[in-house]
Amino acid sequence: QWLDACGPRTVVRAEPQSFCAGVERAIEIVERALERHGAPVYVRRQIVHNTHVVADLERRGAVFVQELDEVPEGATAVLAAHGVAPSVRRQAIERRLHVIDATCPLVAKVHQEVRRFSGSGRTVFLIGHADHEEVVGTRGEAPDHVEVVGSVADARSVQVAHPERVSYVMQTTLSVEEADEIATVLRGRFPALQAPRRDDICYATSNRQHAVRQVAADTDLVLVVGSANSSNSMRLVEVARAAGTDAHLIEDASDLRLEWLTGVHRIGVSAGASAPPTLVDELIAALSAFGDIEVTRHGGVTETVQFTLPREVV
Ligand code: F3S
Repeated sequence: QWLDACGPRTVVRAEPQSFCAGVERAIEIVERALERHGAPVYVRRQIVHNTHVVADLERRGAVFVQELDEVPEGATAVLAAHGVAPSVRRQAIERRLHVIDATCPLVAKVHQEVRRFSGSGRTVFLIGHADHEEVVGTRGEAPDHVEVVGSVADARSVQVAHPERVSYVMQTTLSVEEADEIATVLRGRFPALQAPRRDDICYATSNRQHAVRQVAADTDLVLVVGSANSSNSMRLVEVARAAGTDAHLIEDASDLRLEWLTGVHRIGVSAGASAPPTLVDELIAALSAFGDIEVTRHGGVTETVQFTLPREVV
């Protein structure tokens, strides 16, 4: 099988890939909090959905907890990039925690839309995956006014008391095409449906999906580096598969399987917005063990988005 997997190959890197501005900011917040306050710094949930990032910060003194009641009163606690419901912020105040908020500003924007829409008496359809942390947090802004719509089937069946007062928002890391499909069904059923002012699916999600779609069309196999609980990484795999190409999500190079490589000459490589770029370099190095490889890049969008840090760590 090892011999079958060997041979010269081209590796096409889908660009952009890997860290987005929100993830870089969240990691920097924890690093700076550790520098400023010393270990331990508590972080509620995974700061970003990547096993390697979490393990690295853990080694440096971050302590990851599920809920804030695990944090000693008065300690420093960082809120993860996916955002939290207002009830979590209230809990932090009750426990007199020194909170540093690493919520991505693009997630915070969706929270603000939910407050605006629900504040004007509208029901808000939240297009997204009900069990994802981001959706749990966003829904928490107005639980009685938000209906999570996770699929086209949900969009076809969802019922509201006042169909003339409805709006929608989206999870930031959805498949652009699938979310559009769901929104189209909702628009068909609710002609008065109000859209968010700007797209909720973030620039990083759509850029990575666009690039991986192009790369998939031109390769025999696509490997996406990312953790299984990373929504945007999972969507990259789905987008590649929808383009008709075999695709797999891998945590790192150690997940590589020989049978995937048999008969494969061109391999597309991408990484979710929470996956460190070093993991992609390691994957490419691992692939080179199976024969000469030529590495090319495909894509072209240059991302220039940068977010400011919260004042607690500046
Ligand atoms: Fe923010 Fe999008 Fe990254 S919402 S954390 S910029 S994937």
